[in-house]
Order: sequence, then structure tokens, then C-alpha cells
Amino acid sequence: MNHSSTVYLETFGCQMNELDSELVRGHLRSLGYRFTDDFTKADVVLYNTCSVREQAENKAYSRLGLVGMRKKAGEQVILGVLGCMAERDGIDMLRRFPQVDLLCGPGELDRLPALIDNVRRTEGAAREERVALAGSKSRRSATLAAAEDHLELLDLSRAFEPTDGGADRRSAYVRITRGCNKFCTYCVVPNTRGAEVHRPPDSIVDECKRLVAAGVIEITLLGQTVNHYRYSHGLAVDSEGREQPQVGPGLAAFRAPIPDGQRVTTFARLLQRIHDEVPALQRLRFVTSYPRDFGDDILDVMAGCPRICRYIHAPAQSGSNRILKAMNRGYTREEYLEFIERVTSKLPDCTIAGDIIVGFPTETDAEFEETVSLVRAVPFKNNFIFKYSPRPGTVAIDRFEDDVPTEVKKLRNNLLLDIQTEVSRRVHESWVGRSVPVLVEEIREHGAAAPADPDSALSLAMAHPESKKIELRWNRRQATPRAGLQAIGRTPGDLIVAINLDHTTVGAEGAQALVGTVVEAQLTAAAPLLLQAQLVQ
Ligand code: 5AD
Ligand code: SF4
Repeated sequence: MNHSSTVYLETFGCQMNELDSELVRGHLRSLGYRFTDDFTKADVVLYNTCSVREQAENKAYSRLGLVGMRKKAGEQVILGVLGCMAERDGIDMLRRFPQVDLLCGPGELDRLPALIDNVRRTEGAAREERVALAGSKSRRSATLAAAEDHLELLDLSRAFEPTDGGADRRSAYVRITRGCNKFCTYCVVPNTRGAEVHRPPDSIVDECKRLVAAGVIEITLLGQTVNHYRYSHGLAVDSEGREQPQVGPGLAAFRAPIPDGQRVTTFARLLQRIHDEVPALQRLRFVTSYPRDFGDDILDVMAGCPRICRYIHAPAQSGSNRILKAMNRGYTREEYLEFIERVTSKLPDCTIAGDIIVGFPTETDAEFEETVSLVRAVPFKNNFIFKYSPRPGTVAIDRFEDDVPTEVKKLRNNLLLDIQTEVSRRVHESWVGRSVPVLVEEIREHGAAAPADPDSALSLAMAHPESKKIELRWNRRQATPRAGLQAIGRTPGDLIVAINLDHTTVGAEGAQALVGTVVEAQLTAAAPLLLQAQLVQ
């Protein structure tokens, strides 16, 4: 087998995909593959795709066009589509895009190296053989077939010597559940990622320990609905007695007490275990939370464990009870507000973030106004606002006509963005004057920004929490010759902080040495998107 190949791997969409890509990279590297950031130099090009919104899919389609051009010019390139688009489109994609050589769904990534080898060996053979998909109809993982164990092995075999530089070495994701059982009517995830499967707590704790031993100081636990993590012990063990991943319980399980005699690791217990058993871990965070069944037990553990970040990303999606019902979210506006009330009374410092969909089918102006009033009522640090996008394979696309005109969706989106900006500014302002620990992610040069308006020199496009990148864009017109250095990082509550570094005390090298460390910063000014600060020496 020829493993001297050079691979280009690009990731679209969520943190789950970023983690999948990291694991794929580790797996292929261990087999001798090399990686490049330049897609023109790669002989294997892989796109790890996302289907949540049409926009993300369109981006990936345009990338397929680029590789198609290279192939037309006679270059030998293997093109693979990984992730949710592969799963959703299935072999239709091979018919529509003849340049695509292989498809690999998110539940089959352990089989990717074999698929690449297969493409090499079987040139001209049936293209259907170059496909590894769980099959959205079968929801394979619901039966926990053997392949699920292989997927677990992919998580367990992750490389613990992170090779990427900077803050990436310090921050890592750990998956606690795969898939989703909630079936929100607009969402493709239950189809593309299959049924909810929960990893054994020992595997999770072990992975956290090994990451920390390799230098990681911040771990983000990943799951579509992390608070629904629940592992019943003694049900699924392998021949050596090791616990295996298991299918998550239905929603009813969260309404009833845990049966007598059943040993269960709840999400609260898992957090406590990681906190206690990995004492060198400085920051433990988790996304995404489901706004129902977020018990006081979780809030109590958060209150009692100083290294668990007081940050909750709990998408409300809408403020209208009728729309929430049509979305099949399983809670009311009142229940959402009651949940937030519990969070802020038990954890006054906790920052709250969310997602909102505007223009869901049949949403009226009055119902949109209810979303506006919800956004005003909750101290959201930020909300990611999406225009409804009908997705093939979802319940909503069959049940409802996409009847809110694009122009109205745009208008509602912009109105809500303006309101969220006001709310974000208020939340950020409430932090000014305090001293906070900041995990430094990068050093930037900046054109001396007026402290009263930190956003003016630096405009910052925050990515969805499911994508960890902070994108910073510089407004060159604002830059002045008195440029200095800024350390950009995050508080435990995920507030973004720009620390002005005084170049007389911190030189360029000294500044770079701050990346990946936690520093104490005095917050001096606020804007909707970030806080300005001075280093506390
Ligand atoms: N249209 C628009 N937004 C969507 N999301 C998920 N599916 C859709 C869709 N069909 C949003 C939800 C979710 C976030 C990850 O993406 O707000 O929380
Ligand atoms: Fe999709 Fe709803 Fe599951 Fe989130 S909880 S992944 S929105 S089905």
C-alpha cells in the first residue's frame, strides 16, 4: 500500500466535525500519511462536511468544483467527502459529482483508510464500493453494531501529542455522546449522525487524563445535548469486562427517579468525576445543553467545582410556544425562562449563550415579537441567529411549506441581531472593573483602539460555539502608527478579552510566550463583542 500520500483535509460546520477531523488526521498520520495546508499539493483531498444549513452545503459543493477542475486538467487526485453531507446525499452524490471518489459518513470514519486504499486498488470498479455510510434509514448505531465499537476505538486511539502549535495544544474536545434522539423538526442531525450513543465514563475520564498529561489545560465536552448524558453501569461490557458505549435513554428517563439498584453516571456525576479525578485540568466546559432536563444537580456541581466553567450554551430557538411546539423542542417559553432563572440564581456569574432560528414555517410577526422579547429578557452574552433553511430528510420539510419569504427572514434576522447587540453590550458592560483569568489564544498587533470603543479598531466575527475559532478582522482605516500588541483570549465564561500589552514591559517574544497560558486581566472597557483589559502584573 502506498502511504506516502499527502492529504488536504478541510472541515466545515460544528465542533463535532472538528473533533472528527482531528481523529481522522491522527489515524491517517499513524499510517504514514502526511498533511498539507495547500490543496493544490495534495493527492488526497478530503472535505469533512456539514448539512445543518444549506449555506454550509453550498460552500462544500463549490470546493468539489475546484477539485473537479484539477481532475479535468489531468491531475491524479483522490477526492473524498466525509461527514454529514456524505451521509445525507448518499450515493446520489457520486452520480451528481463524478469527481468524488469516496463517501464516508460520520459514523464510519474508522473505515476511511480502507476506503482510500480501495479507491487506489479498484480504479474503474463499481463506485458504490467506495462508500461507507451508516444509512440514514437504519440508524445503525441504535443497535450498537460492532462498528460502534470501532468508532469508540477511533476516539480512544487519538494521538496525545498534539502537534498543532499555540492555544490548540492547550484546548481539546472530548466527545461524551454521539448522535441525537430529540428529532427537532428542522434538524438533520438525528438522520446524519444517528441515534444517541453514550460513551462509558471511564473512557471519557481516561481520555481527559491523557490529554492533560499531554499539556492540555482546557477540555470541552461535546454532545448534541450534553445534559442528557446518562450511563447505566453493568449493561454493556466486552469479553474483558470493559464497559461499552450504550444507547441513550428516552426523554421519559429524565422525568422519573433512577430505579433502585441501578448504578448510573449522570451528567452531573460525570462532571464531578472529571473535576475530581483530573485535578491538573484548569478549565472544564461543555456544549451543547438542551434547555429541558437541566437539573439542579448539574448546577450544584458547577457551583461546587471551581474549575468547571460557568458557561452554558442552551439554544432557545424561539420565544413562541406555538413555534417551539412545531419545532418539537419539548419545552415552553415559560420553562426556558424558569431554567434561566435557576441558572442565574444558583450561578450569578454564569454566562449564557444560545441559538435562535427566525422564519420557521408559519412564524407570524407577533410570534417573532415573542422571540424578540425572550432575547431581551435573558442576559444572553450572545445568540447565533439563523434563518430557517429547509433540510431534506427532516420532518419540517415534509410537514410545512417554507412560507416565510426570504426578505422577511432577512429583516427578522437583522432586527434580532440589533437587539442581541444591545443585550450583549449590557452583559459585557456588567463585567467592567472586575479582574478575570484569561486563557490567551493569540497575539495580534493592533492600531491603538480608543478604550471607550474597543470594537472600533477590531471587528470581531464570533463563530458559533460549535466552531472554536475566534475570527478577528482588522479595520485598517482605524489603525494608527502607534500600533501595539494585544493578547486575545477568553474568560472561563467564554467572554472574549483583548488585553493591551505595554510593549515597554512585554516585548514581542514575551507576548508570544503568553499564548496557551492563563493570565489575570483587569477589565477596563466593554463593547458588544469583547472586553478590553490590562494585564495584572
Ligand atoms: N435551519 C436553520 N437553522 C438550523 N439549525 C439547525 N437546523 C437548522 C435549519 N434547518 C441551527 C439551530 C441549531 C444550530 C446548530 O443550527 O439553531 O441550534
Ligand atoms: Fe438537532 Fe434538536 Fe438534536 Fe440539536 S437537539 S442536534 S437541534 S435534533
